Amino acid sequence: MDKELRKKLLAWFEKNGRHNYPWRQSTNLYYIFLSEIMLQQTQINRVASNYFPRFIKRFPSIVDLANASLDDVLALWSGLGYYNRAQNLHKSAQIIVSQKAFPTTFEALKKLPGVGKYTASAILAFGLNYPIVVIDSNIKRLYFRLFATTSMQNVQQKAQKLLDKCYPKKYNLALMDIGATICLPKNPTCLLCPLQHFCKGKDNIPAFTQTKSQKKEEKELFFSIFLKKNQIALIKSKEKLYNNLLVLPPSKEKRNYLASFTHSYTKYKLNVHLYEGIEEDQSFIWYDLKNIENAPIASLTKKALQALKLI
Ligand code: ADE
Repeated sequence: MDKELRKKLLAWFEKNGRHNYPWRQSTNLYYIFLSEIMLQQTQINRVASNYFPRFIKRFPSIVDLANASLDDVLALWSGLGYYNRAQNLHKSAQIIVSQKAFPTTFEALKKLPGVGKYTASAILAFGLNYPIVVIDSNIKRLYFRLFATTSMQNVQQKAQKLLDKCYPKKYNLALMDIGATICLPKNPTCLLCPLQHFCKGKDNIPAFTQTKSQKKEEKELFFSIFLKKNQIALIKSKEKLYNNLLVLPPSKEKRNYLASFTHSYTKYKLNVHLYEGIEEDQSFIWYDLKNIENAPIASLTKKALQALKLI
């Protein structure tokens, strides 16, 4: 039975898999590592068409990344969100270069900052074709349905038995692609699924679907705009969400209102209000507006400058 399932799965993958992503056509562990970090919580097409190619053009090897400044790495990550990913990636690159070899065991990979169970197993399976079960959110949902369970312990056991030990890379990518394109959270297209005859949960999909009904938390943010000779005042953020990024200084006085806009970021809905700056601060970094596209700033800051027609 398992053998039949694997055969169907791999045949489907050859024909229908998403083979064209640049990191899938490579065995370069740095590319695979980078793609997995970028793909966490981020739309795949944004990574494939823009951020990934730009990043490897600028930092072609892990040594180039390790030798770069954090500001340069953050500037290239600008707009992608979850900036601690970029910082952990940079730190990991430095650790790997200092160890003079890319880690190739689950335990060694897990020790790198920002690398959890999923990323470590993905690097092993996709980079080294190592026989390991990979479970991202799409594969998890598929396994829940296929095995008709919502117990992760059950999933781990059954998935370990089902794993294709000869073609683990193709096997895991196939499950990922079915999870992303067929076995969708709502309205899965079971009739197109190569696993439909093996799926124990297909008649009771809602019971094996975990819904993330996460309502966004609203926050009010107030920023000051200081302008001087085509330069804008920014400060280095120490906040967890934007750590080390350049952000607008906070507005304490809230006098001379300029504009407001909303911005969605991670689990927050941010209501952002801009005021004219009043008192300058020693910590200001004056940044040329002409060069702002190359600055380590978040989308929120860009949006603020756009709202004021400064860029
Ligand atoms: N291919 C390899 N890893 C992937 C991921 N995390 N998401 C989508 N496609 C991938």
